[in-house]
Amino acid sequence: SAMAADLAGGAIASAPAAQTLKPLDILYGTQTGTAEDLAQQAAALARARGFQPRIEELDAIDMSRLAGMERAIIVISTYGEGEMPDNAHQFWDALSGPDAPRLERLSFGVLALGDTGYEHFCQAGKLIDTRLEQLGAQRLGARVDCDVDFEDAAAAWLSSVLPADSGTAPAAAPTAEPAPAASKTGFGRKNPYAARLIQNRLLSGANSAKEIRHFAFDLGDSGLSYEAGDALGVMPVNNPALVQALLARLGAAPDLAIPGQDAGLSDLLTRRLEIRTPPRDLIAEIGKRAGHEELSHVLANGDKEALEAFLWGRDTLDLLNLAPGLKLDAAEFLGWLKPLQHRAYSISSSPKAHPGEVHLTVAAVRWMAGDRAHGGVCSTFLADQQGGSSPVFMSPNKSFRVPQDGSVPMIMVGPGTGIAPFRAFLEERRSLGATGMNWLFFGDQHRASDFIYEDEIGQMSASGFLTRLDLAFSRDQADKIYVQNRMEENGRALFAALEEGGHFYVCGDATRMARDVDASLHRIIETQGGLTPEAATEYVNRLRRDKRYVRDVY
Ligand code: 2AM
Repeated sequence: SAMAADLAGGAIASAPAAQTLKPLDILYGTQTGTAEDLAQQAAALARARGFQPRIEELDAIDMSRLAGMERAIIVISTYGEGEMPDNAHQFWDALSGPDAPRLERLSFGVLALGDTGYEHFCQAGKLIDTRLEQLGAQRLGARVDCDVDFEDAAAAWLSSVLPADSGTAPAAAPTAEPAPAASKTGFGRKNPYAARLIQNRLLSGANSAKEIRHFAFDLGDSGLSYEAGDALGVMPVNNPALVQALLARLGAAPDLAIPGQDAGLSDLLTRRLEIRTPPRDLIAEIGKRAGHEELSHVLANGDKEALEAFLWGRDTLDLLNLAPGLKLDAAEFLGWLKPLQHRAYSISSSPKAHPGEVHLTVAAVRWMAGDRAHGGVCSTFLADQQGGSSPVFMSPNKSFRVPQDGSVPMIMVGPGTGIAPFRAFLEERRSLGATGMNWLFFGDQHRASDFIYEDEIGQMSASGFLTRLDLAFSRDQADKIYVQNRMEENGRALFAALEEGGHFYVCGDATRMARDVDASLHRIIETQGGLTPEAATEYVNRLRRDKRYVRDVY
């Protein structure tokens, strides 16, 4: 996008005086940085088209400012089960609340990012779009809901809501289109780099319930770079045994040509299509045709939880096998499948500690069902690989960074594979010679089998660099102990660290762990700060606004 920005800069230079340009607020809500990147692209296009854009995150906007705006584009992703991203919560609380102002002055457009694989597709964008209309704001154009493959839809939408003939734009202004989402290296989501796998090592013990692995990739001469806190996108290849089994079930030849496709059946199933998680269309079709009593019943009831329970552990092949006699046309079957997507993993290395390399810490997901081995698409693709290379690209997460001030406390809560970015943070801070306190909360089921990176952590602890280490092994005693229990036991010191300007980070399971850790954080601030629940919430909100409470949760 640097090129688009340069072009747009040229447009500004030759444009009339700034006050004749139309002001445009570009507001974003982002969890992993994608919406923020898109906001930057929108700004470049807007400049080229005679607008004067200003980019801000949603949580920086209070309602009186919103009411004063003329024109705004909102770029917002949805995270988890239809939730607002972390830097849009406060905005949404105010906008959806009873005291929200009328917004008759405002013209707006919503660019919603989401994933049709989730039930609440683009929910955050839909909520904001509807609420703005309720409050009297006018649409610049209809909301666009983008799937994971968002680039083209987003670019077309931006182009339509930011008309080139916006009146005040100089006639000669070049119209810079948003740059494709690739880094300056040319490697990106659509053109990943084949990174050589130089390490694939089991971290968890043989008796662990989990298979957690350490991976190291060589970035070679790719020119790819990253910072501690970023994620790595990995494009998986489907399991060959599963592809074989599907071909057998379809009774189709591997090289069967599919109309409108430039690859044969086996290739499409191996590299292009998501064949593990049954997509909605396939579930509906099988439900109609299989004559399977339980599935028909669950679908007819429209009971989402019952459907989820029914699908639990079942992959696409299991669904087809609910009706072993059902003959399926291969081309029709392919039409129900979704494109194979990359997976993004929090990077567990600092580039300063491992120049030219990037490390991941991944739990390989495997289970048995109906006598057949099942597995997570990308985690087992990685786990089963020895040598060779994997298609990867960088997925920056600009809000997930070590504190800029090396002297302030860095408090990290990362049980299980949630430790990944904190290994990177610790390496980063050690390389920088940062002097601030480093405090890690880590846990998992059993110390004997699940204390991953024990050697490294032990050394950092022994040297005094890792100032505090609190461990929570949930199943080593009669009562469960979780990281948030350790936080509360150490509430006084934790609050003191926050008061010293500390940054508080959470990585790992979103639905249970991160939610409970958040509740504990509120309680600690309430108790230690002598605050009411409302005042504690305001304290936490300020931490969020100051980027001192950031999460990488999934
Ligand atoms: P459990 O499975 O023994 O209950 C990593 O998976 C660790 O997170 C495990 O020790 C697991 O404990 C724990 N865990 C489960 N639910 C949790 C929650 N709500 N909050 C924090 N940790 C949790």
